[in-house]
Amino acid sequence: MSQPVPEGLPNATPVDIHPFHVSHINVLSHDWRTSLAFYSRVFGARYRFHLGPRKVVTDIDGFEFFIEEVDDFVVNPFFHFGLRTTTEGVYAFAERLDRLGVPMVKGNNPAPGPMVGPDQVRVALYVEDPDGWLIEVYSPEKQVLESDLLDHDPRWVVPVAERSS
Ligand SMILES: [Fe+2]
Repeated sequence: MSQPVPEGLPNATPVDIHPFHVSHINVLSHDWRTSLAFYSRVFGARYRFHLGPRKVVTDIDGFEFFIEEVDDFVVNPFFHFGLRTTTEGVYAFAERLDRLGVPMVKGNNPAPGPMVGPDQVRVALYVEDPDGWLIEVYSPEKQVLESDLLDHDPRWVVPVAERSS
């Protein structure tokens, strides 16, 4: 169940147009080839096509993941994006990173490596891409599992008792 929206907070204005969902992220890179190599090796990104000489579209599990090479940008350490898996998946991903020789970083954890969150359910690890963008690999928070946020995806439609164990 979703929690009631606190008084005074803005909330979902219906977007009554055609189907509408968040479909891609555009990651900035100093070298698209290096980034493509990293994301394909580490996250299984599949090259799809070029959108320009310095911009490629890949997909990661169906999510359109764009890499764009630009000459000048600043990595904001407070920005990150997340890839959700299961609890076991986070630990398996940590082993994968070790095998690949990709170091984990502290990110929002107290130290590098997979860590259980304050809710005693969510497990997360962090890694940086070649340009320093922070990436989180995590399992769902207790609040997410107890909400209806994942119900649209059949991969997550399992009994709550199983999810949080
Ligand atoms: Fe996060």
